[in-house]
Amino acid sequence: MADAGQYVVGVAGLALYRTWLVADPAVADARMRDVARLVADPPSLPLDAPALDVVDGYGRWAASYDATPNPLIALEEPVVRAMIDAVPPGVALDAACGTGRHTRYLAARGHRVIGVDASPAMLAEARRALDDVDLRLGDLAHLPLDDASVDLAVSALALTHCPDLGPPIAELARVVRPGGRLVVSDFHPMMVALGGSAFFVAADGTAGHVRSYFHSHGAHLAAFGDAGLEVLKCVEPTATEAHLLAMSGGLLHLAPEAFRDALVGLPQALVWQLVRLPDR
Ligand SMILES: C[S@@+](CC[C@H](N)C(=O)[O-])C[C@H]1O[C@@H](n2cnc3c(N)ncnc32)[C@H](O)[C@@H]1O
Repeated sequence: MADAGQYVVGVAGLALYRTWLVADPAVADARMRDVARLVADPPSLPLDAPALDVVDGYGRWAASYDATPNPLIALEEPVVRAMIDAVPPGVALDAACGTGRHTRYLAARGHRVIGVDASPAMLAEARRALDDVDLRLGDLAHLPLDDASVDLAVSALALTHCPDLGPPIAELARVVRPGGRLVVSDFHPMMVALGGSAFFVAADGTAGHVRSYFHSHGAHLAAFGDAGLEVLKCVEPTATEAHLLAMSGGLLHLAPEAFRDALVGLPQALVWQLVRLPDR
């Protein structure tokens, strides 16, 4: 079984890693004392949070997904909305729409929206608030849409669950008309490289996580290039002090300065605005 106490010790180690050379030596000494204190007397917080695949994991997470404060969403949402606002109403796809967070926004902006997701439970939550929207069960790597059939494709916080970026990005490009726009957001690869994953607490109080895969900026750019997409903008919102409590999972009090020095300033989300180039 995992132990969230180890997470706190790891955060203290990350804070030391980020400060030992470049911060005031007194700060690094304080972070060293945090590590020594936590290693000598580690908090014991056993946590049963098994790795689950997308359908099982989101099947269990769906009922609590919208109700749980999520610092990643707090950072990502305004950036994605600004990119959506730049596109006039038309036909829009929300690929991996989940409970319909961006689907609702797209519909409110006047788009005719199609939502696609691999999780029946997440789609069922989306249907509660979107009974007149076309919601389809489907996979990012085989989107149930015709070629060049949408003006805008949004895919938020989902590509991280795909082991290979190539197939889903090729599919997103296929369904967007030449000249159409794409907005792709994700959990930032730096956080994935640090061991981040899609951790959740379900409505019944049980926990789990859905694995995230590391995709570098270079891997994104290669997949975009192969799919005939051009990057218009890339935005990487970072964690601030205001996000620390939620990011710590309620454990901030165990090492507050370590959480601050470890996490503030790290990018949490990666958001791309793209255009599909004309066919060559
Ligand atoms: C973190 S949720 C994000 C949901 C929504 N886009 C949002 O931003 O609120 C990730 C969603 O991606 C979906 N997903 C993950 N991998 C997928 C795949 N290969 N095909 C379709 N949906 C997928 C999951 O079922 C889940 O609903």
